[in-house]
Amino acid sequence: MDDEMLDSGTGKTNLLSRFSRNEFSFETKSTVGVEFATRSVKVKDGINIKAQIWDTAGQERFRAITAAGATGAFLVYEISKRQSFLNLDTWLKEIKDSADANILITLIGNKSDLKEKREVTTEEALAYAEKNNLSFMETSALDGENVNLAFQQILQQIY
Ligand code: GTP
Repeated sequence: MDDEMLDSGTGKTNLLSRFSRNEFSFETKSTVGVEFATRSVKVKDGINIKAQIWDTAGQERFRAITAAGATGAFLVYEISKRQSFLNLDTWLKEIKDSADANILITLIGNKSDLKEKREVTTEEALAYAEKNNLSFMETSALDGENVNLAFQQILQQIY
């Protein structure tokens, strides 16, 4: 796959760093290999779980993670880049082909702070999510909007 198809730069690494360390970087390097982070999260009264969150680039490594038994996944496009939305079918198929049939998937429209550059409406993303049985949320790793909520929600669905 070429770079365009890999959808680098939608903000996956920064979503992970915002959630796990409350950090954001304007100059992250493209992920090579696999990164992961953990964070303890309260999912119910008195129940804390330690979430292990993986971030990867490239198909083979991605397959290794889903095949290793991921129970939830974020499918991330950026609201300011239409092509990343148009490529979702490819990635969704990739998840379905390699992951457990019961994997919970949340569609994430990241970079919600770039409102003036929006190329994907909330309505069409919601329609795509409903059609494909995904949860959906717009987030910003930059200003933090909905980042905790998106992780909390998928973890609560899992547990
Ligand atoms: P790959 O590892 O190459 O697949 O990229 P990625 O999806 O992990 O994206 P990354 O987190 O590295 O972010 C790419 C660029 O987008 C960086 O310059 C980030 O600073 C920027 N970025 C990430 N999230 C946001 C966001 O919510 N808003 C804005 N405005 N920029 C963001």
